[in-house]
Amino acid sequence: MASMENLKPIQTSMTKLLGIQFPIIAGPMFLVSNEDLVSAVSNSGALGATPSLNWRTPELFSQAVETIKAKTSKPYGINLIVNKSNPRVNQDLDVCVKHKVPLVITSLGNPKEVIDKVHGYGGKVFCDVVDLKYALKVQDLGCDGVIAVSQGAGGHAGPISPLVLLPHLKSKLRIPVIAAGGIASGNQILAALILGADGVQIGTRFIATPEAGVTNDYKEAIVKAEPEDIVMTRRISGTPAAVIKTPYIEKVGLDLNPIEGFLLKNPWTKKYVRMVRYVLGQNALEKAAHKTTWKTVWSAGQGVGLIHDIIPAGQVVQRLVKEYWDARENLP
Ligand SMILES: Cc1cc2nc3c(=O)[nH]c(=O)nc-3n(C[C@H](O)[C@H](O)[C@H](O)COP(=O)(O)O)c2cc1C
Repeated sequence: MASMENLKPIQTSMTKLLGIQFPIIAGPMFLVSNEDLVSAVSNSGALGATPSLNWRTPELFSQAVETIKAKTSKPYGINLIVNKSNPRVNQDLDVCVKHKVPLVITSLGNPKEVIDKVHGYGGKVFCDVVDLKYALKVQDLGCDGVIAVSQGAGGHAGPISPLVLLPHLKSKLRIPVIAAGGIASGNQILAALILGADGVQIGTRFIATPEAGVTNDYKEAIVKAEPEDIVMTRRISGTPAAVIKTPYIEKVGLDLNPIEGFLLKNPWTKKYVRMVRYVLGQNALEKAAHKTTWKTVWSAGQGVGLIHDIIPAGQVVQRLVKEYWDARENLP
């Protein structure tokens, strides 16, 4: 591990709940997060997380958790996709229970069973939300915090501006609210905390690190891209996802083709079109993430405009914390 400067901790209800130094989660990223990224972030005093689906079977996922535990003694997180599109959710949840994973982050679906089982061994559960209705539902189910995914985020961004979403959720919930979407610098972390967040979840910034498990072309593209280059496409999963506008994306367009669009409106064919689109989209993402191809589908959020270098994940955390304290001192 690279030597870490002694930075003053940033204490919030989230850091107390999770037992970490800085209120920063490196968000779980399909195809990007791996054992090295997660452990480097957790060793730096923040918390690294990864989706279980980055490993092809529950057995491989379980081995990956063992590797993470060997590389860090600090808390880390696993993301489970809880809806019906994920046939592995029960098996992957069993792996989390077996390893007593400190933080489970759920997306989509009903997280009740996850919350009950994870609380059973003393772990914590945060749920991704994009609006108040779902946030209230998961709070009632007993989750420990919500991740407020706003406009500008990488992955499946929410529709609401973080300037509104954070105070909106904060005023109506009693559990910690974690800001996600477009954050890549320390002054934005301060801004999020001022708006009522108890911490932040950051994805895109951590793609531009040596640890991230994707090609250098993808990392360089993150460094080069501006916020104006991020577009929303339905061609990956059927629901809008943020990607860098590459010549390939421009060629294939952002929407489903007219036949798919037509079949999606039909209740009999809807399910099959979704499945086919999902498989094709994941294939394209996977190819572009791991090898050089002209079919570049690179998932990233608007924060790309604030990312100018590829540096180790631990240094990203250090820089964010430094920038946070500088911004606090220089507040007008
Ligand atoms: C390439 C990529 C893949 C992602 N995959 C997932 C995922 O599998 N599960 C999940 O809950 N969130 C996923 N996200 C969302 C991140 O965990 C995080 O909430 C988001 O990136 C925050 O926005 P930012 O990228 O603007 O920092 C992904 C984001 C990116 C950029």
